Amino acid sequence: MKRVTIRVPATTANLGPGFDAFGCALSLYTDVTFEETEAGLEITGCPEEFTGPDNLAYTSYCAALATMSEELRGVKIHIDAHIPVCRGLGSSAALLVAGAMGANVLRGNKLSTQGLLNITNAMEGHPDNLAPAFLGGLTASMVDSGLPVCVSFPLHPDWEFLALIPDFNLPTTKARAVLPEQVSRADAIYNISHGALVLKALELGDEKLLRNAMQDKLHQNYRKKLIPDYEAIESLVRTTGAAFCLSGAGPTLLCITQDPKLEEKLAKKLDSITTANWQMLPLHVEFEGAHVIFAE
Ligand code: HSE
Repeated sequence: MKRVTIRVPATTANLGPGFDAFGCALSLYTDVTFEETEAGLEITGCPEEFTGPDNLAYTSYCAALATMSEELRGVKIHIDAHIPVCRGLGSSAALLVAGAMGANVLRGNKLSTQGLLNITNAMEGHPDNLAPAFLGGLTASMVDSGLPVCVSFPLHPDWEFLALIPDFNLPTTKARAVLPEQVSRADAIYNISHGALVLKALELGDEKLLRNAMQDKLHQNYRKKLIPDYEAIESLVRTTGAAFCLSGAGPTLLCITQDPKLEEKLAKKLDSITTANWQMLPLHVEFEGAHVIFAE
């Protein structure tokens, strides 16, 4: 095989209290094509600044080859990204997943999904976007002795996700830099208890339970100051009955609901309460993880 295209879903991480642990795959995709060549590196489909050897799809491709003790030859990489960059929807994780999977498929699938998770988690530092990107659906993960352990959870089929995506980005490094190194016991207990109930609410399709459980003390309060309009939008969403959280490290805000009219209800007021431009993007859960869509 010489050429392969990998499709990876967008992911929303944390889901409120599940900081660095929970994640869910969503119906928005990045496709990355890898074509082996004699020598050299050519990356197309992305801005010039991302076409060098530090491109995440390429670094992950190289890491997977190294893990398999496979020779690195030349490669052409084409990125067709529909996941917005640096918006809290797993765009970086998608490139890492595509790179590792692309190398693995081209060299005979020597690595398991766990092997690919190990490689990409070592690069990303936390598995909460990677797990749903590989597995699809709702996942929770832990890191034990440096290795990710990722588990799929059942999800009620009626949930709809409405992403509110602003016209500015927020690098994850910046959004992590504002977090405290230490937290109180009370805040830790708050998140453990709320996190457990978020998973149950998502399984049952219980919107009231989800709305109450999807609250957090470990990251959202610190990060909201980096996101103009956060509090205004949160107050507006809370009037509708939908559950609300920051998507990953932000700046995208996420509503989870079973109300088909939520977008319409928010649209009536959103522009009048915000200062930035916010795009509303209705999404649903993607139950299929990263996979090959073309190979020759
Ligand atoms: N759990 C991560 C965070 C997700 O919130 O920083 C973003 O990579």
